[in-house]
Amino acid sequence: MTDWEKRYQLGDTPWEKGMAAPPLLEVLAKGADWGAGPILVPGCGLGHDVRALATLEAPVVGLDLSPTAVERAREFPPVGAEVYELGNFLDPAWRAGRKFSAVWEHTCFCAIDPSERGRYAEAAAACLEQGGLLAGVFFLTPFDPGEAACGPPFATTVEELDAWFSPWFERIDGWVPGAAYPGRESREWIGLYRKR
Ligand SMILES: C[S@@+](CC[C@H](N)C(=O)[O-])C[C@H]1O[C@@H](n2cnc3c(N)ncnc32)[C@H](O)[C@@H]1O
Repeated sequence: MTDWEKRYQLGDTPWEKGMAAPPLLEVLAKGADWGAGPILVPGCGLGHDVRALATLEAPVVGLDLSPTAVERAREFPPVGAEVYELGNFLDPAWRAGRKFSAVWEHTCFCAIDPSERGRYAEAAAACLEQGGLLAGVFFLTPFDPGEAACGPPFATTVEELDAWFSPWFERIDGWVPGAAYPGRESREWIGLYRKR
């Protein structure tokens, strides 16, 4: 099991690109109904996506289980009404009594052990209000064919995502993003799901 806190402490963070995910900027440019907020970003790391979403002028909550990541995210100048919280997205205690209008997923789903994916889908459904948006960029093929597939990141498929989310969500859009971090081109898929 990955010790995320240790990886931040050691600076062993190859996922940290110093900027918001290009596919998120694509979703923002295309337009989506994110609701009035708050918007949740689970596994937010240093919070670049949180601050990009804060330009929507809705409150945004970045959640991460690494104290170092949360501490470093809080050091960035505020963009809007964003906050960072320490917590485990999969822990029902964290979300007790809270509802969000949208969840933005980026490299949290692929970071958790695949055996926890049911809990992830349940957590996303439980923390969203009815009609809430689950939007995410999902890593389909993090490894080249023949390369040792030793995650995280753990691969997925559109079919698997639909299967996990369909008990609570209707898929309203999905496409391969035109923009990606270098090295992730054509390896990702954007999915937009609406909670029934
Ligand atoms: C691969 S990193 C990606 C971070 C950020 N999304 C980015 O792209 O820079 C995965 C992040 O998810 C966090 N994480 C893993 N499991 C989590 C959980 N169950 N709840 C909250 N955060 C989690 C880790 O601490 C880490 O910051």
